[in-house]
Amino acid sequence: MSTFENLSFETRWLGRPREHWAELGSTNDRALAWARAGAPHGALVTADAQTTGRGRLGRAWASESGEDLYVSAILRPHAGKPIGALGLAVGVGLREGLASWLPAAQLKWPNDVLVGGRKLGGILCEARWVGSSPEVVVGFGVNVGRSLFPGPLADSATSLRRELETAAPSRDEVLARILPALERALEAFFAGGFAAIRGRYEPHCALVGRTVLVDMANGTGAKVQATALGLADDGALLVREEEGPPRRVESGDVWLAP
Ligand code: BTN
Repeated sequence: MSTFENLSFETRWLGRPREHWAELGSTNDRALAWARAGAPHGALVTADAQTTGRGRLGRAWASESGEDLYVSAILRPHAGKPIGALGLAVGVGLREGLASWLPAAQLKWPNDVLVGGRKLGGILCEARWVGSSPEVVVGFGVNVGRSLFPGPLADSATSLRRELETAAPSRDEVLARILPALERALEAFFAGGFAAIRGRYEPHCALVGRTVLVDMANGTGAKVQATALGLADDGALLVREEEGPPRRVESGDVWLAP
C-alpha cells in the first residue's frame, strides 16, 4: 500500500504539486497532458502501475508490479537554455539519491542506471515547445521491490530488493531520497549546463574507458567498435575508433562490447 499521498519531500519545488494514481497508461502521458493544461515547473505524477509504460527508442517499460517507482516530473526550463543533456542530469540525481543504498550504482550513457551491469532504472525525457519555451516531462522508472523479471529481463535487470542483503527500502523511502538529490542536480544543470555536473556523471559512467559498440545513426544499422573516452561539456559521448580522431555520439544506443 503506497502512502505517496501523505509523503512529504525535503524539496523546495520538485514534487509540488503531486498527483498519485493507482494505475495509469503512462505517467509521462499524464504529465504531458497536465503540462498542456498548465501544471507548474516541478509538478509530479506517480503511479503504482502503468499499462503502457514506455522507454526510449519506442521500447516498452514493464510496469505492472505495483512494487517499483514510476515517476514523471514537469519542468519548464528558461527559453534559450540548452536542454539536450537534461536526461543526463536526471541520471546524476537518481544515482546520488540511490547512493546510500547502492554506492556502486553506475550511469550508462545516455539514460540508464545500472548495478553490476544490470539495469535498475531508466529515464525518458519528452519535450514540446510553446513558442520559444520548452515544456519538458522527465519520466523515470526505478525497480525497487520486484524480485522476478520475466524473459530477457531475467539476466539484464535488477532491483534494490535483489541487490541489497538487508531488507529493501519502501518505494516511499526511495522516492523521498531521490527527489531532493534530483532537485539539486537539476538546479546545478539549469544554472551551469551539463559542464556544471560533468564531474558528477563521468566518474560513475559505466562506459568510460571501456570498449563499446556504437550505433553511429548513419542509417546503415552498422555498429562501430570504439573506446569511450569521456563526455563533452554538452553531454555528448566521446569515442575513438582504433586510430581515428575522437568522435562525438549525440544520440542513439551504445553497448559495452562483449
Ligand atoms: C528507458 O530505459 O528506456 C526509459 C524508461 C523510462 C520508464 C519511465 S516509468 C515512468 C515514465 N512513464 C513512462 O511511460 N516511461 C517513464
